[in-house]
Amino acid sequence: MPYLKPERPEKVSAPSLRSSKQRGERLVCLTAYDYPTARIVDEAGIDIILVGDSLGNVVLGYGNTVPVTLDEILIHLKAVRRGVQRALLVADMPYGSFHTGADEAVRNALRLVKEGGAEAIKLEGGRKRVELVKRLVDEEISVMGHIGLTPQSINQLGAYRVQGKTALSARELVDDAKALEDAGVFAIVLEVVPREIAKMITESVGVPTIGIGAGVYCDIQVLVLHDMLGLSFGKQARFVRPYANLREAITEAVTKYADDVRNGTYPSHAESYSLPAEAAEEMNIDVPAKNSKAEKS
Ligand code: KIV
Repeated sequence: MPYLKPERPEKVSAPSLRSSKQRGERLVCLTAYDYPTARIVDEAGIDIILVGDSLGNVVLGYGNTVPVTLDEILIHLKAVRRGVQRALLVADMPYGSFHTGADEAVRNALRLVKEGGAEAIKLEGGRKRVELVKRLVDEEISVMGHIGLTPQSINQLGAYRVQGKTALSARELVDDAKALEDAGVFAIVLEVVPREIAKMITESVGVPTIGIGAGVYCDIQVLVLHDMLGLSFGKQARFVRPYANLREAITEAVTKYADDVRNGTYPSHAESYSLPAEAAEEMNIDVPAKNSKAEKS
């Protein structure tokens, strides 16, 4: 299919993604967790912004996504909401927020939509989530599925590994995707699965697949913003292309700032305020014409 550039200015909605897939458009998704990055990402024309529970890893320092709470997602979601105009805004249902019954899950999803301004929610899991997805969709909540590597299952998985590597588990992934589509999801995240299986799934469902570590055949790609900007710690997975090294840029900037403060070149007079001559005279203050040491170069 030839690469078609989607129309930039149109607001992206959950239903519009299916037609984008039919038109062969390659849409782009990124995470965001605060107002400035949300604004930058939205203004750059990214189509879908996810307030993911990866928040736990890259912003809150938890080490994994298990401890993330609904209230934490809500705080970040509200900030992101204020920065997003065009992109479809999706919020993750964190671990524990949809595991204790459908009514509780609906209540929590509604909080993300009503209080947080999410236009859709995402939840992890395949066939076992079918009844819940149907219920949420019945309550007019747009749902994004998420299969393959589901980081909320880390305590059962033991480690983050490529999923769907045996014929049996690959077939299960295809079945999961079809079951989620039948249940009413508008898109499905495929995380860290072989590209051949991602292709098979992408070709077997009418809703778009959103790949992360799932190869080029997915309809949409997603990355964690902090990972692709070089703002996270530890070894990166092979699918993370480093588009920037903000950790290095920030280290350089704050080190320069510290040097300037320590050697007296920050702030210069131009970066501070002087007392008007009249007031200085009245108060008998001698205002030096120039402080050469601190003068801005
Ligand atoms: O939490 C997250 O950022 C995600 C993406 C990796 C899809 O679930």
